[in-house]
Amino acid sequence: MERTFLMVKPDAVRRGLIGSIIARFEAKGFKMIAGKLMIISDELVKKHYFEHEGRPYYNDLTTFMTSGPVFAMVWEGNDIIKLSRFMMGSTDPEKATPGTIRGDYATRMNRNVIHGSDSAENAEREIRLFFEEEEFVSNK
Ligand code: TYD
Ligand code: MG
Repeated sequence: MERTFLMVKPDAVRRGLIGSIIARFEAKGFKMIAGKLMIISDELVKKHYFEHEGRPYYNDLTTFMTSGPVFAMVWEGNDIIKLSRFMMGSTDPEKATPGTIRGDYATRMNRNVIHGSDSAENAEREIRLFFEEEEFVSNK
């Protein structure tokens, strides 16, 4: 069983899409083991997106991600890192296939609705950044 970090971004929270996005992962058979509505601090967004520092889109990305509440979650399931990335679709919504989350709900790269970890290493790192172990309900 694998764990990943998923986050409904501020554009999607504002548009009332938290429930629709969660419903897709539930329908797939994955299990949410932690979740919270929160505002990301400047310090946290820098840690989360440290790999992107210096890129042309970095300032817009960090400003956007701290502009309103996000819904941060930890999910569990077989092969969930790869499969949740399939379900999200391409980073650029113009290239995302209809039927994927970004393909269905977004049109622009800088407002692409959802974040999901891209590797086991990043999943563990991101989960630790956003959650404490006692917030998980996986054993209940
Ligand atoms: P990245 O980790 O490459 O994509 P993903 O979210 O699919 O893992 O990039 C992180 C976020 O940075 C991406 O969701 C949106 C933003 N971004 C841009 O705004 N412009 C870009 O050219 C890229 C590559 C990313
Ligand atoms: Mg990424």
